[in-house]
Amino acid sequence: MGALTVGVLISGRGSNLQALIDAAATPGYPARLAVVISNVPSAAGLARAAKAGIATVVVDHKKFQMREAFEAEVNRALDDAGVELVCLAGFMRLLSDSFVRHWRDRLINIHPSLLPAFRGLHVHEQALAAGVRISGCTVHYVREGVDDGPILAQAAVPVAPTDTPETLAARVLVQEHRIYPLAVRLIAEGRVRIVEEKVMIEEEDGSAVPLFNTATL
Ligand code: GAR
Repeated sequence: MGALTVGVLISGRGSNLQALIDAAATPGYPARLAVVISNVPSAAGLARAAKAGIATVVVDHKKFQMREAFEAEVNRALDDAGVELVCLAGFMRLLSDSFVRHWRDRLINIHPSLLPAFRGLHVHEQALAAGVRISGCTVHYVREGVDDGPILAQAAVPVAPTDTPETLAARVLVQEHRIYPLAVRLIAEGRVRIVEEKVMIEEEDGSAVPLFNTATL
């Protein structure tokens, strides 16, 4: 079976992209990154992709009046690269319902909270304001709602009384870099099933179970 062809959408730093690049470079990893697309021309992640020899495309949303035209350009770049799975990695544009429907069950996102808690922006500020003792990150399939969709993998971290949004973000990010490559691996291995909007992982004996082994504290 050939490697799954992945496209990554970014808007900035690209540390999750780097985690995927590093994973894809390990022997036997079942996915390969074919294209990295940024809506921000200055995104640092573009240099990470170029350094790894991955094709990069900039689709600057500011140059498009209509979201549909912007997304058509993104789709063209994804199709040109033969992308089978789209990974949002710090991609900070809302995607239209029609884009999300087009890529249904082939589009995943990483979000720096234990969804469904703390959707949207300023996630770590939200977590600290709520006084939670545990936060974390989530890899999920993308559905039409913001930061909504079947949960593939989650990891938890403690929230310290002295945390700032920055220190909490850094602790969560370590776990993001762990679970995103894991989630892509499971998909690429063809082991992921979505049953009634819940993600099940197929075991070797053919049984399907939710992913339990990603918790960490
Ligand atoms: C990550 O923490 C990611 O979870 C978050 O943006 C950061 C991107 O960092 N994504 C969202 O908040 C999406 N709702 P990176 O560019 O270094 O991967």
